[in-house]
Amino acid sequence: MVTHILVPNDNNIDICAKAIRCGQVVAFPTETVYGLGGNAYDAQAVDKIYTAKGRPNDNPLIVHIASADHLLDVAREVPVLARKLADALMPGPLTIVLPKKESIPSVVTGGLDTVGVRIPSHPVARAFIEACGCPICAPSANTSGKPSPTLAEHVFDDLNGKIPYILDGGACSVGIESTIIDFCMPKPRLLRRGGVALEQIMNVIGEVDVYEGGNIALCPGMKYKHYSPVASVLFANYDECMHDRIVAEYDRLTELGKRVEIMCLTTGRYFYGSRHTLEVGCDYDAYAHNLFAFFRDADRRGIDVIICEGAPSMGIGASIVNRLVKAAGGTTI
Ligand code: TXA
Ligand code: MG
Repeated sequence: MVTHILVPNDNNIDICAKAIRCGQVVAFPTETVYGLGGNAYDAQAVDKIYTAKGRPNDNPLIVHIASADHLLDVAREVPVLARKLADALMPGPLTIVLPKKESIPSVVTGGLDTVGVRIPSHPVARAFIEACGCPICAPSANTSGKPSPTLAEHVFDDLNGKIPYILDGGACSVGIESTIIDFCMPKPRLLRRGGVALEQIMNVIGEVDVYEGGNIALCPGMKYKHYSPVASVLFANYDECMHDRIVAEYDRLTELGKRVEIMCLTTGRYFYGSRHTLEVGCDYDAYAHNLFAFFRDADRRGIDVIICEGAPSMGIGASIVNRLVKAAGGTTI
């Protein structure tokens, strides 16, 4: 199969929507990461998504809709707090888990009786979903286990020859996946940190249950290895000695003949002297925006080890730490 990268004009969005209605899968941009979409009502299309990604099919997919008017197309009910959160923060980098409507085939949700629902804010995503005229289930458009794609080229690198179309919406602004909140529990529960800070969510709906650091994967997907470049990732805990530990580790590894790079804020670049760095930008939004793209870039250049600066555990920083710890497979310096 030839994979076409298309500029997202009306004509090309229409071509992609037609492909979806014919049971094909299409990669499209969202503000978080690129998604690999299929008609959520079409179990065969859903199978194609799992196959293209090489994804275990017990790992449920998020269903994307164009506006809150469609929530009840996919969910049996929308609890009061979920509605409140949706009104405040959707469209945006947020997914809410709701009781699944029967019309959504169970292959979409890995057999669960719940469904993750998202309304992306990216104009191309919304135009595409509207043109399709059906809910679009979509995981991130990467090969399973690789960092999520934040550029059309990343999708092409992973899925060339496996899907017909990629809508190219440029770089995803947020750069990490949506925050997931489960509303099928007695109390709302955080399942995955992401593009919306937890503080922002709690400002709207009050306390949210948070379990982190345990061995139980709350979202089925979180038990799988994620976000990993081929290079080894070392995560440096954010504290006053972080820069010193990074320098010591960099020097030790380069002496062993490793090609090492330090992922750091531009503002702290001077700590590292002439050592090789990947400057993510001046703040943590920029760090999130560039993180996955820089992982892929380091792999392209054959880097052996990426030492990543940690972030304060608040706001988007907490989501960055979550992704870095996963990518590092628990290796903290
Ligand atoms: O930002 C995003 O969320 C992107 C864009 C494309 O929307 N999508 C994304 O999808 O990150 P994916 O499949 O890579 O990650 C979805 C996560 C998985 O860990 C999955 O287990 C979890 O969401 N999930 C989906 N439906 C769920 C459900 N009903 N209950 C619990 N977890 C669910
Ligand atoms: Mg993913």
